[in-house]
Amino acid sequence: MLVEVLGRVTKRHRYPVTPPPDPVAWLTGSRTRSSFVATLGGRVVGQVSRAVAEGDLALEVWTCALGCTPAELAVVKRLFVDPEAGGLGAGRLLLQAVVADAHALGLTPVLDVDAASERARRMYELAGFRLVGELELTWAGLDGSLAVACYAGPPPPGSPAPAAG
Ligand SMILES: CC(C)(COP(=O)(O)OP(=O)(O)OC[C@H]1O[C@@H](n2cnc3c(N)ncnc32)[C@H](O)[C@@H]1OP(=O)(O)O)[C@@H](O)C(=O)NCCC(=O)NCCS
Repeated sequence: MLVEVLGRVTKRHRYPVTPPPDPVAWLTGSRTRSSFVATLGGRVVGQVSRAVAEGDLALEVWTCALGCTPAELAVVKRLFVDPEAGGLGAGRLLLQAVVADAHALGLTPVLDVDAASERARRMYELAGFRLVGELELTWAGLDGSLAVACYAGPPPPGSPAPAAG
């Protein structure tokens, strides 16, 4: 079901930028530690995952900006919503769920996003995420390079104020 949703998302949006050869493996993700799905009328319409920060291309940007170690971070990944259920608030709710999950573990949520994804970026910024850096990335299967915006979310309640910058 989620694979079909992902197929529609990829068709409508450029996400993921390079469509995975094995969508189930991509959705599962070896570094994933928890996932949430959104349902509408009993139908799965979206998902988000929390992963450990390990090997991410944006890792140094996050740790330098926050002055922390990777172990203090939770990477928000695989956030998408069926275009047929878009604009109803599912994306916002999924983001709230994964941020609460990270906070419950004392972790600061971070993410990277295609810099051209204005809608997703607006959603993150409205949820309190701040831009901490930008990267120009390339990887196997990508034609050319991609500008990526790196964000840090609100720190867990009770933690010291984040480093400036
Ligand atoms: C980004 C995405 C998850 C948003 O999901 P959604 O369920 O449609 O979003 P929501 O209805 O919860 O809206 C969330 C916010 O997005 C913004 N938004 C929603 N519709 C918008 C529109 N038509 N134009 C601009 N911004 C819009 C708003 O800021 C909204 O917050 P608000 O309702 O408080 O104003 C979805 O469009 C998607 O799956 N995109 C492709 C995958 C992707 O880019 N994921 C991010 C990976 S890092």
